[in-house]
Amino acid sequence: MTKIVMISGSLRAESTNSAMIRAAAASVAACPGVDVEVVSVDEVPLFNEDVEAMGDPFEVIALKRTVGSADVLLICTPEYNASVPGVLKNALDWLSRPSGESVLTGMPVATMSASTSGFGARWAQDHLRSILVDGIGAVLVDHEPVCIRKSDERVVDGMLVDREALAEIRSLVATAVGTCLDAASA
Ligand SMILES: Cc1cc2nc3c(=O)[nH]c(=O)nc-3n(C[C@H](O)[C@H](O)[C@H](O)COP(=O)(O)O)c2cc1C
Repeated sequence: MTKIVMISGSLRAESTNSAMIRAAAASVAACPGVDVEVVSVDEVPLFNEDVEAMGDPFEVIALKRTVGSADVLLICTPEYNASVPGVLKNALDWLSRPSGESVLTGMPVATMSASTSGFGARWAQDHLRSILVDGIGAVLVDHEPVCIRKSDERVVDGMLVDREALAEIRSLVATAVGTCLDAASA
């Protein structure tokens, strides 16, 4: 069984990034041998080394356990002021610990981004990739960046309805899951 865990970087109830994640999850939900779990970062407390020194909070333990159970992680991020939202960076900071023993170190991660603007949150995705690779030592899934532009025009009632975007997401997820299958058979 290959497990893919998915995270949206937006907490908004009508988040288009979360709609992308739902579409990604649906694209593999019926695939035999693939297990999907979508995890929210909305309850993760603010990172604080003093808190960490007393022991990870329950929400962080749960997050690390879920992400650590993954063979591959998929993150979809919006762009806030040319970077990733603080909530996503905060979750990644927790996941990066303990330094040198992060559950993300060496883990394949697929990234995508969605924005209501015409740029598809490309800057945020570039920052996300740098955090993952340069900061944490994760490994990017080998796929061209998926940046969904004008995301609000492609989502209706919380569902991604744009065929082109859906095809891009399906391609990314297939590559992400395929990376695990390739590694397992090597
Ligand atoms: C504080 C803030 C800063 C933003 N900065 C950017 C930005 O730098 N670039 C951009 O393309 N969109 C920016 N946006 C627009 C968001 O990308 C847009 O609201 C997006 O739809 C949020 O994702 P969501 O639909 O998943 O919540 C910003 C939005 C907020 C609330």
